[in-house]
Amino acid sequence: MASIHNAATTFDFLAVNCVPESHVWTEQKDYPVVPESAGNDAVPVVDMADGTEGAIAAVAQVAEEWGGFLLVGHGVPIELLVRVEEQIKCLLARPAPEKERAARGGDFKNGYGVPPYALYFSKLMWSEGYTFSAANVRSEFRRIWPDGGDEYMRFCDVMEEFHKEMRALGEKVLDMFYKVLGLSADHIAGGGVERQIRDTMTATMRLNMYPKCPEPERAIGLAAHTDSVFFTFIMQSLVPGLQLLRRGPDRWVTVPAQPGALPVLIGDLFHVLTNGRFHNVLHRAVVNQDRERVSVAYLIGPPKDMKVAPLDVAIRQGSKAAFRIVTWPEYMVAREKTFWNDGEALKILRVT
Ligand code: SIN
Ligand code: FE2
Repeated sequence: MASIHNAATTFDFLAVNCVPESHVWTEQKDYPVVPESAGNDAVPVVDMADGTEGAIAAVAQVAEEWGGFLLVGHGVPIELLVRVEEQIKCLLARPAPEKERAARGGDFKNGYGVPPYALYFSKLMWSEGYTFSAANVRSEFRRIWPDGGDEYMRFCDVMEEFHKEMRALGEKVLDMFYKVLGLSADHIAGGGVERQIRDTMTATMRLNMYPKCPEPERAIGLAAHTDSVFFTFIMQSLVPGLQLLRRGPDRWVTVPAQPGALPVLIGDLFHVLTNGRFHNVLHRAVVNQDRERVSVAYLIGPPKDMKVAPLDVAIRQGSKAAFRIVTWPEYMVAREKTFWNDGEALKILRVT
């Protein structure tokens, strides 16, 4: 299993006219095995420009029932999102040896390669990508462009501008979630843990490229998973591919690809913060035959040494904390041991 996941190995997706055995997911792609929605589900839309009480109640319902939604009215310029997409395409179009030089693995936690949870599967996904800490763009991408230069500068400038916008948006969305939990602006501004989370949260970026696939039904772009972090923003091309698992009866619902609309996904550690109230949504990315697709997952999580536990405000009267205290790295270890399966990883944190 190890060799198939050697992050340093690039695969020439465009050179094949059928999906090779190494990438066939017919048995595993629907894990857990569920059908696609018949089309009568609409992923909820949250308009940030609507600050009414009614809007906050709607966010509460969406966060509890779906764990994911499309964010509009957020103020991030569409023109910037277009430039981010161009830069990802430019990066991942670099020659294979350059990308291999920047491979994740060994001393490098970040870099080019398969997403970390890919190691749990015996098959490869129909995508390539790059993971890095948003705060370290310039040092990270010297690995691709050791001599700097115009391309390097353009790439770093755009990614840093994106990071600045998304970090600020992250604070606004966090405040919206805090409001849902019933916290006042004064409370948030005080010196408590809520303020500490807002001031110190970190950002990891995962750039994904999903090439056209000759047999999309047999392949998977990104296998089903939950994000371990607090929450994630997705920037995606105008090509659908992201799907959310909707419960009862279980089905995959495709998130529409609309200009400027940013999917938001609740992660495992926000499920913990809210004592299980916000749903950590299982999601995946499917591929298609006609158009390549690009996405960025902008993952917002705690700093490594922060102890994460259910917030007092989320523990309803008469109940107790449902999860034990954990740091993000400790949770990642627990998650590895329990496999990535929906809900399984969090069981290890549950107070019984
Ligand atoms: C992700 O889950 O990290 C990205 C999904 C997508 O490509 O939309
Ligand atoms: Fe994800």
